[in-house]
Amino acid sequence: GPGLVVAVDGPGGSGKSTAAKAIARRLGLRYLDTGAMYRAVTQLALEQRIDIEDAAAVAELAERAVLTSGTDPDAPTIAVNQVRVDAEIRTRAVTNAVSAVSAVAVVRSRLVSQQQQIITEAVDTAGGIVVEGRDIGSVVAPDAPVKVFLTASTEVRALRRSRELGEKGVDDVARTLAELGRRDELDSTRKVDPLQAAPDAIVVDSSGMTVDEVVDEVLRHIAAAG
Ligand code: C5P
Repeated sequence: GPGLVVAVDGPGGSGKSTAAKAIARRLGLRYLDTGAMYRAVTQLALEQRIDIEDAAAVAELAERAVLTSGTDPDAPTIAVNQVRVDAEIRTRAVTNAVSAVSAVAVVRSRLVSQQQQIITEAVDTAGGIVVEGRDIGSVVAPDAPVKVFLTASTEVRALRRSRELGEKGVDDVARTLAELGRRDELDSTRKVDPLQAAPDAIVVDSSGMTVDEVVDEVLRHIAAAG
């Protein structure tokens, strides 16, 4: 039968990546991290010293860049022009620049059509895919039968992100909180495809939940949607 598409959207630090990978593993599906694609274009722009506020230059770069996404939930990968950039895309420099790059309409249209190709292939050949991002349920896969909007309080998200970055001090957490707030604001207010819950998404607030609890809740929802 046709494969399943599960859309997982939400802000940074909501636990999207961990939950989306676990759901894909449990269901034997592929996994696509669309944020990694926006990060990869951003990393390339920084490496080539392109002014990220120059939308035309960023658009041109995105049109030339060839992205390759590995969709194994146990070992997702991302390459730009055949060069793996899995670690490089997680730096603070990339994280703080990505919202400007992802606000460029040409960047989005190009990445969205690539994401749709990856989804179609996974649906046709691999039983389906769990796709995480900001606009999956609303724009990339509006027909997905299962849409999850994962969220958590800003404080919880900053603490999680800080822990991921290996930070210890309260100053670090405060800085991460400020940066996360700024990125949320940019991602939610941009003109093209802002971060938002699709009207038919189930909203899960993971603030007081473990990863397993989030995964179980989504799996129950999938089973019920049958
Ligand atoms: O999910 P992650 O934090 O890695 O995403 C990085 C950035 O990529 C987001 O802050 C957002 O600017 C952009 N993004 C997007 N649309 C998506 C996924 C990510 O605009 N579908």
